Amino acid sequence: MARWAAVALAVTLGTSAPATLAQTHFPERATAFADKPAVAVGVAWYPEQWPEERWETDLQLMQRTGFNVVRIAEFAWSRMEPEEGRFDFAWLDRAIAAAKAHGMMVVIGTPTAAPPAWLSQKYPDVLRVDENGARAGHGGRKHFSLASARYRDFCRQIATELARRYGHNPAVVGWQIDNEIGAPSFDDESVAAWHAFLQKRYGNIDELNRRWTTEYWSQHYNSFDQVPLHATGQQNPGLLLDFRHFMTAAWTDYVQNQARAMRPLIDPRQFITTNTMHWNAGFDHFDLHRDLDIAAWDNYIPDGRPDWVENGANHDLVRGYKQRNFWLMETQPGRVDWVPVNRALDPGQVREMAWQAVAHGADAVLYWEWRPTANGQETYYGTVLGQDGKYNPIQPEIAQTAAELTKAAPLLADTVPTADVAMLFSYDSRWAIDLQRHHKDFDPVKAFTDFYRPLRVQAQGVAIVSPEADLKRYPLVVAPNLMVLTQAQAGALEAYVRGGGHLVLGPRSGMRDDANALWPQKQPGPLLDLLGAQVAQYYALDESVGVTGAVSGKATIWAEDIEPIAKDVRTLATYVDKGGWLDGKPAIVTRTVGRGSITYVGAWLDSAAMAQLATSLLADARVTSIVAETDSDFEIGVRAGGGKRVLIAINHGTVAHPLTLPAGARPAGGDWADGQVAAHGVAWFTIGGDK
Ligand code: GLA
Repeated sequence: MARWAAVALAVTLGTSAPATLAQTHFPERATAFADKPAVAVGVAWYPEQWPEERWETDLQLMQRTGFNVVRIAEFAWSRMEPEEGRFDFAWLDRAIAAAKAHGMMVVIGTPTAAPPAWLSQKYPDVLRVDENGARAGHGGRKHFSLASARYRDFCRQIATELARRYGHNPAVVGWQIDNEIGAPSFDDESVAAWHAFLQKRYGNIDELNRRWTTEYWSQHYNSFDQVPLHATGQQNPGLLLDFRHFMTAAWTDYVQNQARAMRPLIDPRQFITTNTMHWNAGFDHFDLHRDLDIAAWDNYIPDGRPDWVENGANHDLVRGYKQRNFWLMETQPGRVDWVPVNRALDPGQVREMAWQAVAHGADAVLYWEWRPTANGQETYYGTVLGQDGKYNPIQPEIAQTAAELTKAAPLLADTVPTADVAMLFSYDSRWAIDLQRHHKDFDPVKAFTDFYRPLRVQAQGVAIVSPEADLKRYPLVVAPNLMVLTQAQAGALEAYVRGGGHLVLGPRSGMRDDANALWPQKQPGPLLDLLGAQVAQYYALDESVGVTGAVSGKATIWAEDIEPIAKDVRTLATYVDKGGWLDGKPAIVTRTVGRGSITYVGAWLDSAAMAQLATSLLADARVTSIVAETDSDFEIGVRAGGGKRVLIAINHGTVAHPLTLPAGARPAGGDWADGQVAAHGVAWFTIGGDK
């Protein structure tokens, strides 16, 4: 019996059932349902928005589309609790039963992103206050304060009622807490929570004063309750970074407030998650997901023009939250409705994007949403049905995708994406850079993606993990902009290098500590001794400067002059900057440490130079690609596990491309014909082994 099946069976029998999915024996799988497809496909369905007589037709149409999961109820609070303390779940009972009768698994969203009017009216103190002091009114959503104790009581109560009622319902496979959390509040309770947070973090006010350097501009505080609550503006960078730490703690607690109430009432087979937004910087996602079972996210291509590498990085980051497969809880059936031009994806691209998610570790793909309502804020959104209740032109493509993923599910069961390269993403660093960019175009996400791009294309698998992750399994670790670097993180990175790992640091790394204060030594701060070199000076560029050596091209936006200190530091590339500060100065240096190495890249390189750099880094770390020669439109990924290796090839281009298969590859499905994969085509192969 496969391991996951054994776990699931144990759960069913109630023997040695794990307390949460987080503790199952198959840590990298998203879910472990013995009797459910390993890859689920479905849609967001809002039964409360439709007459009950229509449900049967909708569910039939869903079933015909090949869906096997619906996510429901995440905005239905006013239906569940029409008046304070009066609950009505009969309609939800019937909706879940109807969904189950049509073979659907059900994910229930707790409805706390949309508090009902009676709550807003009777308890205006629960309403969110923006940074300028304006209190939110009713009519939209997310109008609550995350810090309101009263609001949390209401949330706990509705979550408890739901868990008690559906915690053992066989159709219900999981829970989504709230919906796209993240909006801060600046109400009085938030301010009090902020002060308590700072007290806990620093112990006493002297320590806060020291870490934030409050002698600057007479900021010295005599007590915690003097510290203002701000997210933006001309505030101390220590305060602004700690605001984000505070948000992380507050949102984690907000989510756990519901999760803690639900856990004792639900089956261990049911997962608890929340759906997050791409690159959302409202909180540290690694922290937030620690006590959730799986990560889930909402992937949208607002302009309808996917950059596959950039989108793949999003998936890898989400997978990295828990280093476990995830659920794609929402994605567009064609278009969104919230950008200036809501262009639809081209024919074939909805399928292409679903397969991309799966290649990066999604174990479920759910479309948002099923059918447009006659009114409501999102009437123009892409949907599977039209307002006439019949299929939209996108439906056949979605049906094909669902059929394929369901067919491929047994092959994909127990598999996870493979990667020999890890990239470190640090929310602290992203925030610290964003708070003081020094060059308006130094977008930390863009800087990260520029490093990711050639590594992903050449290595055909990259894991994005937190600086706290165990890195031993990765021969190559790249930290593009690890500006905030703690002593403990530096220690772990040093141990990684001394253990034979190859560590690469990008510009601005190792400059600040976790209170956003400068380290007393120059960059890379606590890794300076290991590198045997330091950043003598950094420069914001308004014109590019040349880079020459093992890597040649241009530095744009940012360049650092690196000064070797130790004799065994090798300079790999220098600047060409006639008459400028950087001329002849080292741009990239490296040092061998035992069987490992540490490399520092001081420049934001253009794409050609970045590709050369990736080639040499991968060669040094002996990381090879899976498919030797591919067109740049091709995305290659491998999911391995359970004795299987599945290669997924996606042609993101508009013309067919030839694909040279690795030895032993056998076609398992998709658009493979005559040695080619069609435009916007997908093909998958077994390649044997599970390594
Ligand atoms: C988010 C929300 C959904 C919907 C979509 C539209 O992902 O979770 O409720 O508003 O956006 O893009």
